[in-house]
Amino acid sequence: MKNILVTGGAGFIGSNFVHHMLAKYPDYHIVVYDKLTYAANLNNLRDVSQDPRFAFVQGDICDKEKVAETIRGYDIDTIVNFAAESHVDRSIMNPDAFIQTDVYGTYVLLEAARQFGLERYHQISTDEVYGHIPHGHASVETDPVRPRSPYAASKASADLMVHAYFITYGLPVTITRGGNNIGPYQYPEKVVPLFVTNALEGKPLPVYGDGRQMRDYQWVGDHCEAIDLVLHRGELGEIYNVGTGEEMENLRMVEILLDELGASPDLIHFVEDRPGHDRRYALNVEKIKALGWRPKHTPEQAIRRTVRWYVENEWWWRPIKEGEFREYYQKQYGQRKVLKVGL
Ligand code: NAD
Ligand code: TYD
Repeated sequence: MKNILVTGGAGFIGSNFVHHMLAKYPDYHIVVYDKLTYAANLNNLRDVSQDPRFAFVQGDICDKEKVAETIRGYDIDTIVNFAAESHVDRSIMNPDAFIQTDVYGTYVLLEAARQFGLERYHQISTDEVYGHIPHGHASVETDPVRPRSPYAASKASADLMVHAYFITYGLPVTITRGGNNIGPYQYPEKVVPLFVTNALEGKPLPVYGDGRQMRDYQWVGDHCEAIDLVLHRGELGEIYNVGTGEEMENLRMVEILLDELGASPDLIHFVEDRPGHDRRYALNVEKIKALGWRPKHTPEQAIRRTVRWYVENEWWWRPIKEGEFREYYQKQYGQRKVLKVGL
């Protein structure tokens, strides 16, 4: 492995992964291939943009010719696919782009990996493919997929196609399924950066429903280390869950976030719930641990560290909240009923 195509590398997790790989492997070359949708931000890659081992190509993963040209042009041997439409609420408003990018785009990359005989195709997937999980169970990799939102269904479809390419064509694939990532460069539509930045602006934190939904909040850097490990030591054709293995209620996450900021719980607004809202995700992470990986942050440490990053990096998020985001926020939250204010 020496020339890695990181699709979706201008987004949140992809850009963290690029930083991680360039810092750790002096002889690797990274090519970010990204369409630059609303969620992308070249500021995420500012620190590495002058590195001679780094290159950027603007392109859509659904564009077969451009994908092929890039693989050929940079002598790519490995694809790590982060490119996706990634926000559940947007998938509920308009699923179309999710089908295009997450499903068809994954197929285009798989087909290119097959035609060029690449060493590895790695798919970044999510715990959401398992659907919501009853108490007493934590998802294992062999569990059936039961996605419940258009986003989760598009990601599950992609996973199935990746697996089909392994079985049918012997393509050397691996898949990781991550819990909720948090940390630097996350677009402030996702709950943690939305709530920190809203609190810093003195705006309400719109908690969906009763706030008792559970998520596995993990530090993005821990997730990137796990992806790196699976790329180097993972077994072909296998899926690896990646998370802390500790789930937390959203309200507890909000409490920690407000405590780190020293902000008032009066900012909490309970609002109408998300349709089809998955109540609980929980991951069994024994398989990735058996490869030698351990998360370095608990969910609480990850939340506190994320809050501090947003406090210290207003230059990064303030311009985002002025642009496309404003229109989205109005559509998503403008008409939403407020059920209760404060705890
Ligand atoms: P993100 O929305 O921050 O970034 C996605 C990136 O993909 C953006 O840079 C965007 O421009 C790019 N992109 C979108 N459509 C594209 C296309 N057609 N062609 C090329 N590039 C395109 O997403 P993220 O949070 O960094 O998530 C990255 C991956 O990890 C996704 O596959 C997501 O499903 C998965 N994942 C995310 C989380 C999470 O908590 N954020 C958890 C588990 C898995
Ligand atoms: P989100 O960051 O959208 O990730 P996902 O839905 O992929 O897990 O949401 C995380 C949790 O926070 C989820 O239970 C929904 C909840 N949430 C809110 O309560 N309010 C919000 O404004 C958002 C965006 C999410």
